[in-house]
Amino acid sequence: MIVSKLSLRNFRNYAALDVEFSPGLNFIVGDNAEGKTNIVEAINFLSIARSWRTSENRELIKTGAEFAAIKAQVNKGERSNEINAILTPNSKKFLVDNNPIKKLSELSNLVNVITFKPKDALMFLVNVITFKPKDALMFIDSPKVRRNFLDINLSKKSPIYLENLIRYEKLLEERNKILKSSNIDKIQLDVVTLEMIKISEIIVKYRYSYVNDINRVLSKVISQLKGENEKAVISYSPYISSPGDFVEVATRAYEMAYERDIKSKSTNIGIHREDIVMMLNGKDISSYGSQGENRLAVIALKLAPYFLIEDRDLKPIIVLDDVLSELDPENKERLIAFIRKFEQVFVTSTRINIKNASILEVKNHRVTRRYA
Ligand SMILES: Nc1ncnc2c1ncn2[C@@H]1O[C@H](COP(=O)(O)OP(=O)(O)OP(=O)(O)O)[C@@H](O)[C@H]1O
Ligand SMILES: [Mg+2]
Repeated sequence: MIVSKLSLRNFRNYAALDVEFSPGLNFIVGDNAEGKTNIVEAINFLSIARSWRTSENRELIKTGAEFAAIKAQVNKGERSNEINAILTPNSKKFLVDNNPIKKLSELSNLVNVITFKPKDALMFLVNVITFKPKDALMFIDSPKVRRNFLDINLSKKSPIYLENLIRYEKLLEERNKILKSSNIDKIQLDVVTLEMIKISEIIVKYRYSYVNDINRVLSKVISQLKGENEKAVISYSPYISSPGDFVEVATRAYEMAYERDIKSKSTNIGIHREDIVMMLNGKDISSYGSQGENRLAVIALKLAPYFLIEDRDLKPIIVLDDVLSELDPENKERLIAFIRKFEQVFVTSTRINIKNASILEVKNHRVTRRYA
């Protein structure tokens, strides 16, 4: 999958930008605050229907303008689609080949669109893996960040997972509401709990098997990034790990957590509290790894799903925002050599230090494209 063209209207600092991209490496260079991240933010917006920097449309719309538009030509093998996003301060509209998307699920076959959390209405019009500066802290950050990694990747892969996740979230909300009520209806609570347990059994299976899939490729990826043989595994312990019938064991666990749930008026155990850790050569990366190691480990983890997708046309576009400046020269070089394998990659940087790549120089709201 590649983005061959991008047009921005009143998006961030761009009044009008029309730019073409190449397959392979696209290197976006320019001084601070020229608008490099804004370009990759627009690409990523088409992937998840929102920005990773803000939830306010207003911030994405150029100061003084009424609306913003992002248009992209996306090629998947022989097929090509034009994707349009139109933003006003209070709305987002998406069009694929000029057809408004009404029900996102209708389009799932055409453009791999799926909704994510019902609240956020995330979707994946274009498959993009983005590494942003904040991600370097993924293993030090809260468990939610790591769960999101699993949930987003599994949702892209399986609509069944996504459906179950959405159902689970609704049930969790319901359960918490019951726990908050002054007169707890235990029968109703048990009904909801049982439903949650049944769904979480499915979710746990998916998570477990996905973590195993990642582990098949993770050591290889990190070894190539670090230039030496490394053993990396992520480990996932489901909230129910003792042997026996899942529903039975889980029901008992919920009974044991009941007092705590009542006290905190919230659900203390379940798939919404799970976590993953990464072990690098047998040691927990979050407490043992250096900053550089953490960064490389997260890059490896985020790139790993790329190697699990067999269909070349569905392989994601890779975005690395501001990653290079934090790495030492050798790691930088190895990372660049590694990402050349991908079908299309966007790398932002304040300095040009690359050959055999398409270079996009950003200056004064304009992009000049050349090949170096
Ligand atoms: N809604 C908006 N309207 C106008 N300008 C905006 C808007 N949102 C952001 N900007 C401007 O965009 C610029 C930042 O762009 P961006 O984050 O892409 O910079 P960058 O090139 O990635 O810089 P750095 O190298 O520091 O990461 C800032 O100057 C900011 O003021
Ligand atoms: Mg930036």
